[in-house]
Amino acid sequence: MTSVPIKFECRHLWKVFGDKAVMAAQQCHHDGGSSHDVAMAADAQGGIIGARDVSFSVGEGELFVVMGLSGSGKSTVLRCLAQLQPPTLGQVMLDGQDLTTLPEKDLMDIRRHKMGMVFQNFGLVPHFTALQNIAFPLKVRGDDPAACAAKAQEMLTLVGLDGRGDAFPAELSGGQQQRVGIARSLAVDPEVWLLDEPFSALDPLIRRQLQDELLDLQSSLKKSILFITHDFAEAVKLADKIAIMRDGLIIQQGTAAELLLNPADDYVRSFVEDVPRLQVLTLADVMTACSPKAGKTAASSIQLAASTSLETAMIALTSGGTTITVMDKGQTVGTVDKSAIIKAVEG
Ligand SMILES: Nc1ncnc2c1ncn2[C@@H]1O[C@H](COP(=O)(O)OP(=O)(O)O)[C@@H](O)[C@H]1O
Ligand SMILES: [Mg+2]
Repeated sequence: MTSVPIKFECRHLWKVFGDKAVMAAQQCHHDGGSSHDVAMAADAQGGIIGARDVSFSVGEGELFVVMGLSGSGKSTVLRCLAQLQPPTLGQVMLDGQDLTTLPEKDLMDIRRHKMGMVFQNFGLVPHFTALQNIAFPLKVRGDDPAACAAKAQEMLTLVGLDGRGDAFPAELSGGQQQRVGIARSLAVDPEVWLLDEPFSALDPLIRRQLQDELLDLQSSLKKSILFITHDFAEAVKLADKIAIMRDGLIIQQGTAAELLLNPADDYVRSFVEDVPRLQVLTLADVMTACSPKAGKTAASSIQLAASTSLETAMIALTSGGTTITVMDKGQTVGTVDKSAIIKAVEG
């Protein structure tokens, strides 16, 4: 996989709730305490730990999903990232700059120009129309009124709500309200897009539709995205990379395929269990790699692209043959035999 430049990252991020516990955790860290010691110090003061030693990075144009059960610390991480609440320890880097050291004025500037946020409960102003809601963040930062109106209209069209610009939130369905929320978050042309369970309140059918639309938008917009969900199927569908959280801790992070093929523990395993492996895994995930070379490995084998799903590969194998030559950009990059596919699917 090619690596892209890092857009934003959390480095050893802690969020402790409770004033005494915050001070105890910071003191312990200052005194050279380990991660375990810091947690003990916060615990001893009755603190609640929202995030413990969380580190991850999101590349430019990458869609990074944080996934975990309710209360696992997902929103805490997002709020610390946006500096809506100060981290107890650790750094939040954006474009190589540590946000935890910036004065509030600079942070506000970054939030208004570089970040877009979408929340589960839509967060629309009820007495504003759709267009007024979308234009709101532009007005707040003082953009010219004509430019605000033009941009709001452009965003309304982008999310497929043409003709509904004068509707109030109460006159829109949940899916439409969240489209307005998405349009509003994109109006400022953010570089970083933070979405906290944006589709969790929606019916499954609408949820799937908005997931597809998000992927569609992302293929042209190429934002650097932190997307939060408690739905692993949603994570698998959307993510370039997934981090799984429990009790404020990232238990494991990697691609969907990495989590599927090598779950770190039973918690991760319980999420990946129901994923349709034949559809999610590709030949690239299970192949025996070789150094790229021209031509096929064996005359009798079938040639398929590395991005081919195992499902499609199995269907191809039913026409005869037991080996697949895996191709990428016209070169042979590995081989897969039937038994490797069966092994991967059975886990
Ligand atoms: N302001 C707060 N004060 C005290 N505890 C909090 C606060 N915000 C979150 N928490 C606690 O931090 C933990 C993580 O919460 P949260 O990040 O909201 O979880 P998630 O978004 O994964 O559902 C929970 O135990 C929650 O009760
Ligand atoms: Mg949450």
